[in-house]
Amino acid sequence: MGDVIDDVLKPIHGGPDGGPEPFYDFSTNANALGPNPVILEYLRRADPSRYPDPLYRSLHRLLAEAHGVPESHVAVGTGTSELIHRLARWSFLRGPILLLRPTFSEYARAARALDLPLWEVESPEAFLRRLPQSALAFLCVPNNPTGEVYPFLEEAAQRAGGALVLDLAYQPLLETPLSLPPGAWLLHSPNKAHGLTGVRAGYLVAPLDLTPLRHLAPSWPVSVYGEALLLGHLDPEAQAWLEESKRELHRLRSLLAQGLRALGLEVRESPANFLLVRVGKATEVARALRARGIRVRDATSFGLGEWLRLSAQREEAQEALLKALGEVLSQGVGVD
Ligand SMILES: Cc1ncc(COP(=O)(O)O)c(C=O)c1O
Repeated sequence: MGDVIDDVLKPIHGGPDGGPEPFYDFSTNANALGPNPVILEYLRRADPSRYPDPLYRSLHRLLAEAHGVPESHVAVGTGTSELIHRLARWSFLRGPILLLRPTFSEYARAARALDLPLWEVESPEAFLRRLPQSALAFLCVPNNPTGEVYPFLEEAAQRAGGALVLDLAYQPLLETPLSLPPGAWLLHSPNKAHGLTGVRAGYLVAPLDLTPLRHLAPSWPVSVYGEALLLGHLDPEAQAWLEESKRELHRLRSLLAQGLRALGLEVRESPANFLLVRVGKATEVARALRARGIRVRDATSFGLGEWLRLSAQREEAQEALLKALGEVLSQGVGVD
């Protein structure tokens, strides 16, 4: 119980952390070049004076068409965080939850909140071995925080005893498209790619009828703004903006990696818009940077106590970060 409460109280990246407004925020993996102006227009046109369709008929149909699946195979939610918790609550899937550490914390939170058996493994071999017995297995691709794109997705989909859920939160920000195995359950969280994480909406595409899962949510889980975001995401103009911004984000990520390496630091670059950098005691370094108005994601909660996760930000922000980090490290912060 204590763990659940601690997790709930942990400052979440990308939103207010109780401190003064930072000058620069590298802690969120949302597209730093956003918000997507095409989708902002959809948000402006949304009518908050009415409820959305409680069954989200047209939204489900359009998402299903975009993915080439039957309409019943799609379920929208208040962000994929909510859908992760809803999946864990679905009795059809009740049983052990499997995940490959280090990864996004919400899968473990959902399991702990419901007192479900939680299998946290550290190697692909152990993950594949446990898969046939798990009810719900999560893989984040590319993984948050390591950026890994696992080469064993096909094998995992074949071995899964229950649902193999691929969390595709950062997939739209990848340099090259991902090849997805048939049979996997896919969580889509477009708010990150469009730089609109304050709009809470996401969706699941699965290889079966999701009507019972839809009924596990209260009425109207997605607001008219969430609907607008998901509809806007399907607009080819919104996708064109995303393609364009991705090229620049990858350039910015490489530039950041180069700057960090020039400070003598080890860097693990993801093929999306973020990277990991090894700085010594990450919590101390993150605190010192925060005091200088720069927010970074201390990766200690992922079990990576020497690493910071940083997203690609504009050049001015990078210059400020590199300067501050150079100073902090030369003062011995983070050293044993
Ligand atoms: C890997 C991953 N999945 C899912 C989410 C949750 O996204 P949302 O609830 O905004 O759809 C996040 C948020 O940081 C994430 O990093």
